[in-house]
Amino acid sequence: MKTKWWHNAVVYQIYPRSFMDSNGDGIGDIGGIISKLDYLHQLGINLIWLSPVYRSPMDDNGYDISDYEDIAAEFGTLAQMDTLIAQAKARDIHILMDLVVNHTSDEHPWFLEALKGKDNPYRDFYIWRKAAADGGPPNDFHSYFGGSGWALDEASGDYYLHQFSKRQPDLNWDNPRVHAEVHAMMNRWLAKGIGGFRMDVIDLIGKEVDRQIMANGKNLHALIRQMNRATFGKGDYVTVGEAWSASPEDALLYSADDREELSMVFQFDHIKQFWDETEGKWRSKPFDLAGFKTVIDKWQTALSHQGWNSLFWSNHDLPRAVSKFGDEGEFREASAKMLATALHCLKGTPYIYQGEEIGMTNVRFDTVDEYRDIESLNLYQERLQQGVSHEDMMSGIYANGRDNARTPMQWDSSENAGFTTGTPWIGVNPNYRDINVAAALAQPDSIFWHYQKLVALRKQHPILVYGDFQQVLTEHPQVFAWLRTLGDDTLLVVNNFSREPVTLHLPESLQNWHGECLISHYTPRHTLAASLELQPYESFALLKGR
Ligand code: GLC
Ligand code: CA
Repeated sequence: MKTKWWHNAVVYQIYPRSFMDSNGDGIGDIGGIISKLDYLHQLGINLIWLSPVYRSPMDDNGYDISDYEDIAAEFGTLAQMDTLIAQAKARDIHILMDLVVNHTSDEHPWFLEALKGKDNPYRDFYIWRKAAADGGPPNDFHSYFGGSGWALDEASGDYYLHQFSKRQPDLNWDNPRVHAEVHAMMNRWLAKGIGGFRMDVIDLIGKEVDRQIMANGKNLHALIRQMNRATFGKGDYVTVGEAWSASPEDALLYSADDREELSMVFQFDHIKQFWDETEGKWRSKPFDLAGFKTVIDKWQTALSHQGWNSLFWSNHDLPRAVSKFGDEGEFREASAKMLATALHCLKGTPYIYQGEEIGMTNVRFDTVDEYRDIESLNLYQERLQQGVSHEDMMSGIYANGRDNARTPMQWDSSENAGFTTGTPWIGVNPNYRDINVAAALAQPDSIFWHYQKLVALRKQHPILVYGDFQQVLTEHPQVFAWLRTLGDDTLLVVNNFSREPVTLHLPESLQNWHGECLISHYTPRHTLAASLELQPYESFALLKGR
């Protein structure tokens, strides 16, 4: 594997709408992000994944773009975006723009042109099919956001494909003119000095529509290689492919050096395993450590010498890490720190989702109207019509709804958590009086400072970045532990994933170690005996002395 400058970097994801509002309109914006760059610098991150800030009617909060080369008025201006790029760079932070090119907004000029008729030169930028014999959609393909994946264009009587909302028409990646436009747009962003791209649902662009194959279509990897050659492959950029469908074998296709595709893949195996086989995310299964260990182990092993993984517990589409994998109550701090240690001691690039570094939790709004996410709102309607009860659907939203991650960032204990002086576009989590950045910065042993230590450790210890992964104590029901090895060095990482103390009997090979405890959040452990008494959610990493 070739060594890259970003291998030891940590990415921080910003969901702009919910991060910081600088002008009191209740919506986070670029000015707000600029005002918090010192905070991010203090955390030590080197990359920001910026969720979309482009011009958009905001049907899906910016994942529906109507102009790739302008900024949404509510987020700011292109000049402010240039300032953000420059000010971040001055702090050694690079910005990854969110590249959403599986679809555009229905207000994008290409789509407005396409609607003008079958002869319009932009018609073929999108995917059209004739109605079925009964006038209905061409087939039963279903949108991720509910209802048919086909929408009728009344003027022509044809349907266009939309895998997400009907205001997000899919681009036709069989059309070379689409490639040329997208590549040119990407090159203009690269020229502005960004660090690269996070690529939204990139596994869908090779779709084979008539076979109803959307993910992993036959042209997918050829399209990515072509994009690499035409754009970011010419420089030292970071590219992250969001790929819900990726298997470890696919991940190697995306990210092995000789493939010349992407830097790394962002896959969801450890998330999807807690979704119901038929009901999906709306009926979640309880966390089960054995299954979790199996999935993480599979990915760590498969990508150990080639390819590169993204490491994350949460993002803007997922529940909060501590609510999903830890404990929101008594052990919130301990479990948040344990999860942080586990994540940062795996092989790959860690991602911190805004608020994770202070242990923000899921939210439970009383009524459906308080939710804002198009997916939760649409699916609530659709599934109630199908006979699902209000209570069942609300419990699905509480467990896995995307607004869990989208409540405003909690900066301090003042009104609206210091996020805005106006009315926030979505309710603030009521726990902001206790859980907020100001409180975390003031408390020397807070979750924030634990994250800061972990981010710094990756820069000091190549073993955390490049060490081979090997699980130990594999059958243990509460503990997830592994070794990292690099040259003559060995690091032992132990995580108690339970709220109970655990007596851990160590195999002989791990007994009588002495060394340096790189990180812990109880009493540091410098030596190992035959057994250990682990505290609830205790974790530590011990570098064996030579
Ligand atoms: C990705 C984004 C999600 C968005 C969808 C459609 O999964 O992360 O937020 O709704 O793509 O663009
Ligand atoms: Ca604002």
